[in-house]
Amino acid sequence: MKNFLAFLLLELFTVYHALGLSHEGSGAIYPNSNNEVVHEETYYTPEVDYTYPQWCQTFKLHNGHIKCSSPRGGNHRNTLGTRCSVSCERGYKLLGQSSVHCMGSRRWSGTAFCRIVRCHVLPYIQHGTYSCSRGFLVHSRCDYSCVQGYQIEGDRYRVCQEGRSWSGAEPTCADHDPPKLKCPLSRVKVAEPGKLTATVSWERPTATDTADTSLQILRNGPESGSEFSEGQYVIRYKVYDQARNMATCKFTVHVEVKRCPVLKPPLHGFLSCSSDNNNYGAVCEYHCDPGYERSGITTRVCLLNRSWSDQAAECTMMEIKTDVRSAGALLDQFYEKRRLLIVSTPSPSDQYFKLQNIMLQRAACGLDLRHVTVIELIGIPPQEVGRIKEQQLEPEVIEGLRQALQITSSYFNMVLLDELGVDRERFINPTTSDELYTYIEEYLLTEEERERLQLNRDLCD
Ligand SMILES: *[C@@H]1O[C@H](CO)[C@@H](O)[C@H](O)[C@H]1NC(C)=O
Repeated sequence: MKNFLAFLLLELFTVYHALGLSHEGSGAIYPNSNNEVVHEETYYTPEVDYTYPQWCQTFKLHNGHIKCSSPRGGNHRNTLGTRCSVSCERGYKLLGQSSVHCMGSRRWSGTAFCRIVRCHVLPYIQHGTYSCSRGFLVHSRCDYSCVQGYQIEGDRYRVCQEGRSWSGAEPTCADHDPPKLKCPLSRVKVAEPGKLTATVSWERPTATDTADTSLQILRNGPESGSEFSEGQYVIRYKVYDQARNMATCKFTVHVEVKRCPVLKPPLHGFLSCSSDNNNYGAVCEYHCDPGYERSGITTRVCLLNRSWSDQAAECTMMEIKTDVRSAGALLDQFYEKRRLLIVSTPSPSDQYFKLQNIMLQRAACGLDLRHVTVIELIGIPPQEVGRIKEQQLEPEVIEGLRQALQITSSYFNMVLLDELGVDRERFINPTTSDELYTYIEEYLLTEEERERLQLNRDLCD
């Protein structure tokens, strides 16, 4: 209540004084001097005391400077009428009056305080950061830096200026470092055994980038694990980072088919080979013509070092047993294997026989190629000789042949039997090898035999 009253009086005084109604030299009012309520106005007119040193409260100002001059002079700072000019320290901005005076109301004519000067909060930049010496306060310097892999572009720092604005412009962090890409090593692969291709696999290349962690790698060429045929392949990889910096790498895959020299078929035989005939892993099997027997290994394999396993097999004329006792037993040996040309003459001095003999000797290889064996029956019983090359036949066999095939001993004649022993053609005149060959090829050889004869024709040259 007392305080309220004092306040009321003070206000009253302020109004009075403002109207210029105050009187110099009148007494001071002491808010707590008298609590009695009185009605005489003059008694309550506040007295203004220019001498009272603590008329106004001390003007407080943080972070600023006050310079006062008092009518009383000297060190008086709070006497009535004291005027103070106010200023702020660097980095602070004055809010309020720059000049105040101590009024009759025991108040200062205005307020003032120093507010710290701040710039606006600096926004963060992509892929970067900054650190400031004094936050966002004036004169604070903020240094920018970029995260690894990025380089700063623009101002490296900004300073908060007095005018509350930042110096310079916001920098950016840019990625100029291309990513790194490492391809697998180039490689040579040998086609798999028995194949003309190879399956080639490799590790996906690894890409690293100072800025990006997830990089997309693009491939140009076959993918790992593909089956490659013989040849050379270039596989390229490419990677981009987010800033479109690019890196490339490449390596080669060379698929080689190892090959052995082409195998020669055996004389009187042929080969059947798997795969591509002479590539690594190919298997060749030796076969002999009818009437020939294989001596040696059946199959050979093309090895990785380009050589064939084992030795070539040979086809040798089958053994003819001439000590058999019947024509049937002799003929059985040729059944389904050889054709027979049986030459019969009454005498070794027979002109036809002599002529034919010369021609047959020359044709021996050609007849052999056509699977023909020659049997000679020479003379008239009992001076009769039968032979296959050097091998002599038994008289019973000669007789048996003559009877079974109705071969006369009275004049020169020849009988051609097919491989089933069937009598196919007879000649009573000497016949050239060409004629014989033509007939055999046309009527006695199978399709397959004709083809192989075609391949081996030059063997008799
Ligand atoms: C190839 O390899 C086989 C078996 O490994 C060997 O017996 C043969 O001598 C080699 N041939 C060559 C020409 O090196």
